[in-house]
Amino acid sequence: MKSTGRCRAHTNIALIKYWGKRNEELFLPMNSSLSLTLDAFFTDTEVVLDDNLTSDEFYLDDTKQGVEETQKITEFLNLFRNLAKIETKACVKSYNHVPTAAGLASSASAFSALAGAMNQAIGLNLDLKTLSTFARQGSGSATRSVYGGFVEWFMGNDDETTSSHAIPVDDASWDIGMIVIAVNTGRKKLSSRVGMKQTIKTSPFYSSWVETATSDLTKMKEAIKKQDFIQLGEITESNGMKMHATMLGAFPPISYWEPDSVKAIQKVKEIRETGIPCYVTMDAGPNVKVLCKQSDMLKIEQLLLEEFKEEQIIPSKIGEGIRLLNRSEWNY
Ligand code: DP6
Repeated sequence: MKSTGRCRAHTNIALIKYWGKRNEELFLPMNSSLSLTLDAFFTDTEVVLDDNLTSDEFYLDDTKQGVEETQKITEFLNLFRNLAKIETKACVKSYNHVPTAAGLASSASAFSALAGAMNQAIGLNLDLKTLSTFARQGSGSATRSVYGGFVEWFMGNDDETTSSHAIPVDDASWDIGMIVIAVNTGRKKLSSRVGMKQTIKTSPFYSSWVETATSDLTKMKEAIKKQDFIQLGEITESNGMKMHATMLGAFPPISYWEPDSVKAIQKVKEIRETGIPCYVTMDAGPNVKVLCKQSDMLKIEQLLLEEFKEEQIIPSKIGEGIRLLNRSEWNY
């Protein structure tokens, strides 16, 4: 017997960052975080549970993945299989519409889409809140990709796995957009997972980071409620910089920046000084994301073209949460 599930999930960019786990096995974060789901980057995933298979298979963009990558998928699918008390193996096919591992949070859309597709294939009918706790155990940032718009990921209590989940905060259907400046889309040298571990262990700034992220989150939720774009942008930029400063304080120091990242940050500041509100944030990679108003996007893109090539500038609208795909939408 075979049963199939297909799901699309969009990536998300954190405006209040997650950088560190208090429980590595359960992916419980040190602080709550908040993100914006983006329309331009997504993963489509199909899960086929098949009685004839003797082990799980995983294809990424039509390439069969090796033992290590497939093992991660197996462990993730086991969360669902254990609950359903079945052992049926799966063939997983994923298509990434995201430059993989370029700090564009491909693991966020990947595990969110996998959670949605497996939920359908196995017929568990888990709700979105529960699915976000499952997605979390694939990759922390995936917790938030279950929903669209502005999304908060609760840090949760103690070592209880169900209390650390995402909730939708606001659908962001106001004048908001994001432009990604792709500085380098190659694979990053230090994974977020290793980077955050090293930061917690060695950065003397780490406890202040957790305190400041917590108060930034409270202020950001007020800004969203008031639809105050300037306050939203200022907190976003400041929070991202504080995360990177905390990493620089690690031993050995961690930096994901490249010369062109600095060039992009300076250009955005220059654009802002001409009176167009726009703010930067960066993740565990050299690419720079610009939070701006959708209505200013074309103007900002034009100005960025003075420094960067057209293919490096990727504008995005706000994305929706996970969505099951029907057969006719599966064009692979
Ligand atoms: C800088 O979610 O990739 O993008 O949980 O270990 O898989 P793991 O890490 P991951 O880390 C994302 C870190 C970040 C900030 C964020 O998205 O909040």
